[in-house]
Amino acid sequence: MSDHYEYPYPSTELESQHPFHPYDHQRIPEQDMQKRAMSFFAEMNTRRSIRMFSSEPVPQQLIELAVRTASTAPSGAHKQPWTFVATQNKDIKKAIRDAAEEEERTNYLQNRMNADWQRAIAPLGTDHHKEFLEIAPWVVVLFEQRYEIAKDGSQLKNYYVKESVGIAAGLFIAALHQMGLSTLTHTPSPMKFLNHILERPTNERPFCLFPIGYPLDGVKVPDIRRKELNEIFHLL
Ligand SMILES: Cc1cc2nc3c(=O)[nH]c(=O)nc-3n(C[C@H](O)[C@H](O)[C@H](O)COP(=O)(O)O)c2cc1C
Repeated sequence: MSDHYEYPYPSTELESQHPFHPYDHQRIPEQDMQKRAMSFFAEMNTRRSIRMFSSEPVPQQLIELAVRTASTAPSGAHKQPWTFVATQNKDIKKAIRDAAEEEERTNYLQNRMNADWQRAIAPLGTDHHKEFLEIAPWVVVLFEQRYEIAKDGSQLKNYYVKESVGIAAGLFIAALHQMGLSTLTHTPSPMKFLNHILERPTNERPFCLFPIGYPLDGVKVPDIRRKELNEIFHLL
């Protein structure tokens, strides 16, 4: 093993065409790495999706910080193909709840979810009631930008949109948890109604809906287990 690269990145030619700067990596002593890794895992392992929020207000600045953290995500060709729309407006939250419940009524009560799907979510006990969409202080909708609209109105392609937006969503959820807030990853599909209510352009498609706030006192969560390392990790 050697650190010698035959084809260094960036090449001299590349660097003459596009700007680069040294990456500022802070080396952490190995013992501390272990401690930090354990403590991050322990913290993330306490995250749960909740379905009963308190109406207690949450400062806007915290939501903005979570969005900034989400937007540090890597993305295909660095297109950052995401838009976060946040609201604490009562009328908008009510409109979102009403529309979500209408879709979910069809999903749950008129069998748009097939039997296998219904069996899979049975332990969660979810139904078409989505009161939390009005009670939680914030609702944030994450939109994926299927393509970009240039200033002249032409369409520019985005790359690996779902993968990129999924990673941003993960960072968003982690940031909220780390600052002491709770959320639910909610997908009242089809979610096209969110474009209409939130007045988003046609190049954007709703990816996830996040009610955000503090958990209601005494809130309960399904008693489910997470897979062990040996179920999800293979070392070759
Ligand atoms: C893409 C995605 C969509 C989800 N959609 C819903 C949903 O519409 N309603 C809901 O109650 N939970 C939804 N969930 C939450 C999952 O049920 C929850 O993450 C899972 O049961 C594990 O629980 P935990 O988040 O507490 O670890 C969704 C999660 C993901 C990742």
